[in-house]
Amino acid sequence: MHSPADSLAPDWLVVPDDANDLPTAVWPASAARDDDGTLTLAGIPATALAQTYGTPLLVLDEDEVRSRARSFRIAFDEAAAENGTTAQVYYAGKAFLSTAVARWVVDEGLRVDVCTGGELEVALAAGVAPASLGFHGNNKSVAELERAVEVGVGTIIVDSAIEIERLAAITARTDAVQRVLVRVISGVHAETHDFLATAHEDQKFGFPLPDAAIAVARIREIPGLEFAGLHCHIGSQIFGVAGFRESAERVLELHAALLAGGPVPQLNLGGGFGIAYTSVDDPTPIETLAGEIVAAVAAGCAARGIAVPALSFEPGRAIVGTAGVTLYEVGTTKDVELESGAVRRYLSVDGGMSDNARPALYGAQFSARLASRLGVGAPQLSRVVGKHCESGDIVVDHEYLPGDVVPGDLLAVPSTGAYCASLASNYNHVARPPIVAVRDGRSTVIVRGETLADVLSRDAGILVGDEARA
Ligand code: LLP
Repeated sequence: MHSPADSLAPDWLVVPDDANDLPTAVWPASAARDDDGTLTLAGIPATALAQTYGTPLLVLDEDEVRSRARSFRIAFDEAAAENGTTAQVYYAGKAFLSTAVARWVVDEGLRVDVCTGGELEVALAAGVAPASLGFHGNNKSVAELERAVEVGVGTIIVDSAIEIERLAAITARTDAVQRVLVRVISGVHAETHDFLATAHEDQKFGFPLPDAAIAVARIREIPGLEFAGLHCHIGSQIFGVAGFRESAERVLELHAALLAGGPVPQLNLGGGFGIAYTSVDDPTPIETLAGEIVAAVAAGCAARGIAVPALSFEPGRAIVGTAGVTLYEVGTTKDVELESGAVRRYLSVDGGMSDNARPALYGAQFSARLASRLGVGAPQLSRVVGKHCESGDIVVDHEYLPGDVVPGDLLAVPSTGAYCASLASNYNHVARPPIVAVRDGRSTVIVRGETLADVLSRDAGILVGDEARA
């Protein structure tokens, strides 16, 4: 059924037969509707979650995180075994890190990749074995590097010549031997948003391939550093294997050359595996990706007559992305008539770019469903917007939602587990929402929400709590 607003719909968006359905690729496996039509997550009605914890609320499905972590581990283990090598999967904590999530992924056999001192402390507090941590970053401070070496971080991925000298000094001082990988720029431009592509030449990460050879030679001279291999991450939200294959091919050329100067036991090909945000995204199953990427590396090694190195990968989004669902309450609705005569429906919710900056930052598309009941109105093209003082404060740019959505309804936005909480801000002095894990009908706060007092307490001129009462 078409409404006058359909002329505003992008080509990719199809009018759903049922605007209450839950397309499997974008929802956690546990998402369902109960008898009265309420969305349930891990068996818990969205209405009950909203009542207990308030909205906005980020709900993280523990079994979804665990099963995705397990699938990655098994897929890469099997692909590596078939090609005569081993593979390690590091969970890229930048996608979303809390002590609970770190424990779940480690429990499922993953290691953890951190990229700041803050993420390192979360992983350590979760009890992750330091030896199973990888530490990234293009500008790690001396204090961060000292802490990493002191606690025994397994691998530091070095990003600059200056960092190599800092590590040389730290290891000389502490008599430590630190294993390092060298991050390289393969020159492959992954087909993704410019800000999400990291292996083309003109950006801040890693060493161009010729400089990397010099960096490795220098590392091999330093008694406190153990060179373990090369690292390359081509970008994020990538579909298909072409970019990984091309990048591996280029990096293997250097890898093979470096063997002349000593061992090169490892190769880390980074993360970046894409997920579905809307019903039109169709990510390739991880078993297929793992099989094809590892086979391509093995073929590249065979062509050069070298052994297949131990491989590592660093998925973040693909582990945690579809495990997250954000619940919002609708506050106002508005039909705006445009010059063309088309009418766009705006649904304003009680969060926005402070809890999900991805649409504003990357033009990212999301989807949404009415969560508190079944809609009965015909599907109506709608734009879900936040409460911030900015017209780019869009949560879901284009979605067909039942035409009868009214203030007080709950909307659920799926695929918000990755890079939403981790990019959250206090824009407009809005408090960041709590994060609740759900599993088997039970919910647990894993990151508490901020109160307005928390937010205000940073202003030196505002007295809050005991101070204000004194
Ligand atoms: N390894 C390295 C070295 C990385 O820089 C990243 C992501 C990953 C692994 C994990 O990539 P993933 O598997 O999650 O795609 N804020 C952006 C994404 C930034 C990605 C940064 N690096 C977004 O919301 O799309």
